[in-house]
Amino acid sequence: NTKYQFIDVKKEEKVSIITMNRPKASNALCDRLIHEIVTQLKKCDRNPETNAIVLTGLHKVFAAGADVKEMEPRTFQGNFSTNFSSEWDEIAKTRKPLIAAVNGFALGGGCEIAMMCDIIIAGENSKFGHPEIKLGTFSGAGGTQRLTRAVGKAKAMEMLLTGELISAREAWQSGLVSRIVPDHDVVDIAIKIAAKIAANSQPMAMMAKECINQAYESTLQEGLEFERRMFQSTFAFYDREEGMKSFINKRDPEFKDA
Ligand code: CAA
Repeated sequence: NTKYQFIDVKKEEKVSIITMNRPKASNALCDRLIHEIVTQLKKCDRNPETNAIVLTGLHKVFAAGADVKEMEPRTFQGNFSTNFSSEWDEIAKTRKPLIAAVNGFALGGGCEIAMMCDIIIAGENSKFGHPEIKLGTFSGAGGTQRLTRAVGKAKAMEMLLTGELISAREAWQSGLVSRIVPDHDVVDIAIKIAAKIAANSQPMAMMAKECINQAYESTLQEGLEFERRMFQSTFAFYDREEGMKSFINKRDPEFKDA
């Protein structure tokens, strides 16, 4: 069992829950915290008993962004040779469905890792933003790209160039988050959604995720071709046969994740 300093890990049936827990620094995403999240996500991807994952933070703060104190002495040369922030992107490469359960602040890198998840569930008092511009820099872990795709150019420009935060309601209206729920219920609801996903066939959910992500990487025609081939290949799975037979026989399917 891996020993973690800044995350807590638990499991509820087929759902793994990762809680960022670095309260003294408002869950600032130091290198070690990012490394621990990535390590655990890779473990979840390898574990056949995990079908979906929830990533959450503290009640008052999901994550306050990259660790400014750790980052301040960095140099361009150091950033270049270590390819600073590239490990962050491993979060987005998670193959199993990943839900962000956001309470409180999701700022800078905190908003960026939420956007690397597949679904964001937001507490009613959560706040999202990219204040890096006020630090004399700007978003460097996907913010300028993922936020623009999520909320459109005008809103992304306003958020990234002013550094002002938006409320959960604005985040929902602009399509950044899939729903707003009472703060106290955020994690439970995220787990319930993850459990619904986990009850479906694991390889089908993973393939559907790949197809949806392909929509960001290709032209419509290329994406449709990709989807068609993936859809055709579902007919190689036991779960596809079981799913259709159970429908015809009016019973619940018993998926084998195979
Ligand atoms: N890095 C390092 N430490 C941080 C931090 C961060 N991003 N955010 C908060 N902390 C620390 C504070 O320094 C403070 O520590 P001390 O008590 O030792 O001074 C502790 O966490 C508590 O913070 P506050 O006293 O500020 O608590 P608050 O409740 O008043 O405010 C907050 C919380 C709104 C999150 C506020 O701390 C804040 O605005 N944080 C900075 C947000 C920010 O600028 N994020 C962008 C980071 S850069 C980035 O993310 C780059 C990238 O794209 C990869």
